[in-house]
Amino acid sequence: MPFIIAIDGPAASGKGTIARALAAHFGFHHLDTGLLYRATGAKGGDPVLAAQTLEADDLARPGLRSAQAGQAASRVAAIPAVRAALLEFQRRFALQDPGAVLDGRDIGTVICPDAAVKLYVTASDQVRAARRAAELGADPVEILAELRERDRRDSERATAPLRPAEDAVVLDTSDLTIAEAIARAIAQVDRARA
Ligand code: CDP
Ligand code: CDP
Repeated sequence: MPFIIAIDGPAASGKGTIARALAAHFGFHHLDTGLLYRATGAKGGDPVLAAQTLEADDLARPGLRSAQAGQAASRVAAIPAVRAALLEFQRRFALQDPGAVLDGRDIGTVICPDAAVKLYVTASDQVRAARRAAELGADPVEILAELRERDRRDSERATAPLRPAEDAVVLDTSDLTIAEAIARAIAQVDRARA
């Protein structure tokens, strides 16, 4: 059985940073599932068809990290048929030897409910906005509003809403450096593997 690590949490909480670091540390595959929704939103046209026909080129499109692409992603992500179209690919990805790390919103709850380790990464709204604003070179006040709107839409949708799985370990990174956050995540995985 491949070892699956599920990482969920709100926007800009540090999921991707932790997921990449865990994958590098343990030699696992990594999938940023948010990129699937960002690429689907950016493709335009019928979102269900866009999700069904998503290709590697779509994931390399420039501008996918922008706040605008994030908003488009969260709108298409609320459509059940879009989520259904992306589900099989994510489940197959997770089943690769020797293991995989997937980060998103519904990995521990819907995509990989049997994951060996589930982390729910979070941080205060202000901290998340400051980090994302620094990353994008954007205004923290505007980014704060954008993150809150997206978190609200992601949490309130009927299908696969953002919420910690019952068996997830919550990791609040508000007062942690990146190195500290990664060390705690590695410790959780080591404990599960022991
Ligand atoms: O994947 P997600 O949107 O949850 O967040 P991320 O892209 O991993 O992190 C957002 C930004 O916060 C990046 O610029 C990270 O370098 C930074 N970060 C941080 O400053 N401290 C942490 N403990 C984690 C991430
Ligand atoms: O990096 P950040 O946390 O800002 O966003 P992301 O992980 O790239 O996700 C962009 C959007 O895709 C989210 O706001 C969600 O609406 C959606 N998403 C989702 O619904 N389910 C996932 N597993 C991953 C992302």
